[in-house]
Amino acid sequence: MKPTMSPAGPPLLLPLLLLGALILSGAASSSSPSSSSSVSPLSCWFVEEGSGGGSVMPSALSQRPALLLLGPPGRGAGGKLGPGQAEALLPPQVQPGMAFHVVDPSGTLWSKGGVLGGGGGGGDVPRPIWLQPSPSHQAEEEDDEEEEGGGSAEGVSCEVNPYSPQEAHVSWAAGLGGEEGCPRSLDGKWFIASLRSPTAGYGVSAIMHASGLPSPSSPRKHQEEASVVTTATVVLSVFTRTPLLSSRLGQDVLLDCGFSGPSGVPFSVEWRHQHGGAGRVVLAYDGAAPGGGRVSVAEEGARLFLDPSTGNASLQLRAVGPHHEGIYICTLFLPHLHAQQAARLRVLEPPRVSLRPSPLVVVAPNSPAELSCEVSGHFPQGASVTWGLRGGSLGGPLQSWESGHHQSPEGTFRFTSFARLPPLRPQDHGASVECRVSHPALGEGGLHQSVTIHIAGSSGPSVEDAVGCFLIAFALYGLLQAFFQKVFPEKQATEKTKSEKLE
Ligand SMILES: *[C@@H]1O[C@H](CO)[C@@H](O)[C@H](O)[C@H]1NC(C)=O
Repeated sequence: MKPTMSPAGPPLLLPLLLLGALILSGAASSSSPSSSSSVSPLSCWFVEEGSGGGSVMPSALSQRPALLLLGPPGRGAGGKLGPGQAEALLPPQVQPGMAFHVVDPSGTLWSKGGVLGGGGGGGDVPRPIWLQPSPSHQAEEEDDEEEEGGGSAEGVSCEVNPYSPQEAHVSWAAGLGGEEGCPRSLDGKWFIASLRSPTAGYGVSAIMHASGLPSPSSPRKHQEEASVVTTATVVLSVFTRTPLLSSRLGQDVLLDCGFSGPSGVPFSVEWRHQHGGAGRVVLAYDGAAPGGGRVSVAEEGARLFLDPSTGNASLQLRAVGPHHEGIYICTLFLPHLHAQQAARLRVLEPPRVSLRPSPLVVVAPNSPAELSCEVSGHFPQGASVTWGLRGGSLGGPLQSWESGHHQSPEGTFRFTSFARLPPLRPQDHGASVECRVSHPALGEGGLHQSVTIHIAGSSGPSVEDAVGCFLIAFALYGLLQAFFQKVFPEKQATEKTKSEKLE
């Protein structure tokens, strides 16, 4: 799925990437609001399992450049592309059939805020979600995030796959389909489009039914047009506004999941947790349970915010602990259709730092000193300590070492870093040693604590002290001189040397 650049990669890859770039630039130029077109384009990848010519080997994925063309909300006015309009939007790299004119009656793809906000659209011109300004950058940058598909200049990844309607086999969705097998309404071609922008804070999967496919009865001219652009109507979409989420320990967290589908159709919901290769169902709602829909599985602390009228299927987790970390997958089941969205939850608890001794380290001249910096209460484990020196004549790195990392019963971590100062000289008095801690929960700056070095015995003369001493000595000298001159005028010479000594 992901075009990785490995030296051994297939030679097809570079042309594909170039193609992608071309499409991106094409899409970007035509997606400007000033464009005369009534549809918003988004470059995409069409990914399917290669039809490996009957090979027994698991067939490789094939991916081709594709284009989504989102018509304005509703089935009405702008729902249809005029003849020639689609061709004009189509970059040459996109093969016939790889452009999808998406009709979204629910409007989910138009404004992630509008649908959810319950008619909060106001006078705003609706925009497709991939042109929504990102609300805030609370979503963390994920360097290990697997971006799927091509995506656009705005960091949206987009992928379209073929989809086949089928019965779900989980018990909480088994009752949805009825007995009569696949109804005729499921005939035709189905696709699923997945759009994701972790930075903008959303992910959507939309199951689409290709409605504009040529039928034998349609006139030939019509048929040709339809094969260039596939018109597809969104039947079910599932979205999240929290694709990446982090929480401190003990907090409650809401994993957002919303959906829109045909009204009046029974649905089921499943929330699955996956972490470190293990998975389990955290919560399940069976919409076809005898006697009405009910939650059939619920782990302790998990609660479903279910509202069929607004399409809410969000999950609340109470008192988040380290074991809650992982990927949460919200799956929405309709009869014969299901789509899902994933939200990744990270537990981030910043460490406490305690530097000892504090606030002063008192050292005898020319002897070394040891300090300890305890880092505790953090999650995950990845905290590190660096030591630094400020002022004095000290330079170079400090010798340091670490204790083992211990995990508390609550799951938080603790360790201690030790540093040894080299033998210190009086001029190091007043310098400071710093313990700097970095951890994912602390952000860029990290956390630091410092301690000031006092050299024993040299509670050293500061500038003010020196000036003060000089003034006192000077005054004393003057006084004594006056005194001796009065009392022992004959001994003036000897006493003068005495007072000089005092100075
Ligand atoms: C679902 O309901 C919760 C609680 O009222 C709310 O915070 C959340 O935004 C809703 N989500 C959706 C997708 O409607």
